[in-house]
Amino acid sequence: MVRTMEWKEGTLVLLDQTRLPAEVTWISCTTAERVREAIARLEVRGAPAIGAAAAFAMVLGWRGILREQSRAGKGKEPPASPSESYLPAFAALKERLDSARPTAINLAWATKRLYDAAARLAAGGETAKAVSYALETLAKRMYDQDIAVNKAMGQYGAACVPDDAVILTHCNAGALATCGWGTALGVIRSAAAAGKVRQVYADETRPLLQGARLTVWELLEDGIPVTAITDNMAAWVMKQKGVNFVVTGADRIVRNGDTANKIGTYGVALLAKAHGIPFYVAAPASTFDFRLETGAEIPIEERDGDEVRRFLGHLATPPEALVFSPAFDVTPATLITGIITEYGVLRPPYPESIQALQARILKEEKDSWKA
Ligand code: MRU
Repeated sequence: MVRTMEWKEGTLVLLDQTRLPAEVTWISCTTAERVREAIARLEVRGAPAIGAAAAFAMVLGWRGILREQSRAGKGKEPPASPSESYLPAFAALKERLDSARPTAINLAWATKRLYDAAARLAAGGETAKAVSYALETLAKRMYDQDIAVNKAMGQYGAACVPDDAVILTHCNAGALATCGWGTALGVIRSAAAAGKVRQVYADETRPLLQGARLTVWELLEDGIPVTAITDNMAAWVMKQKGVNFVVTGADRIVRNGDTANKIGTYGVALLAKAHGIPFYVAAPASTFDFRLETGAEIPIEERDGDEVRRFLGHLATPPEALVFSPAFDVTPATLITGIITEYGVLRPPYPESIQALQARILKEEKDSWKA
């Protein structure tokens, strides 16, 4: 299975997703700023993958701050135990990374984990070098955990997939969008391994074609039967091809179950409802924003209009055309049959099931602190 990133002795190597499927090329990032650029340009993309890349960016950023301090001290080693003095710069770095893509909550979730770990260790008097080592260990652990979480989601999700399934998915929520296996495509992979999948239809996902370029590429590599369709074919395909299961990923899920995902997901959910097809969302706990009540509060990223004006390098509209380019939309909870997580499948009423999920996560966190 394809790898989206690799941590190699202090360098984050990213698969450049903007060039797929034509070229498989890698980008070496040695600074947090270069990782931020990769996130903003969608060289690395998909909520969990963005989170993992941002965790490694925090490691690079901490090291960068130490280097700056060392330079300011004229080449002397950083003082033995001043970690707390680095925290303001580290907090500023967190803010800067978070602003790269505002909708996918996994980004801020990951940078917060790294920031909180540094703050805790610094308060405990650890040296800056010890903090650096601990941050690297944590980022690597988060990377490994993401794969394990996706596999767990795959198992829970596969149980929801009917036999002889004809599945429609939108955007790319696969290995490429995560550290491996995928969320929505993880469910499809696990269902395919159980012999349940007859056919997958992949929406092309304008404007940047994550479905056509990435989902189709991934599923072909795995030998899972996949057919590409343009976004405007989805209703007809549901009707004519017997689609009996729809699954997508998510960038942010709020307390009432409203879910932000790639632009077009809302339309797909409405079409699924109209055809009586179950519509599932697959997302890890890190995609939940327990602070927001409804989808109306989710910030929606708007992208450069040229991503719509141009298609595969060619002008698709007059150059001066006005363009509206939201990268995400919000699917109301009422259209969602179930939310597949690593803890099991959440069902309506979502305010209750999401509150129970939050309570479970908080308890796990408390227990891990005690251990
Ligand atoms: O703009 P992108 O390509 O980062 O958008 C990705 C999506 O919307 C995915 O469906 C979502 O992040 C879930 S990824 C497991």
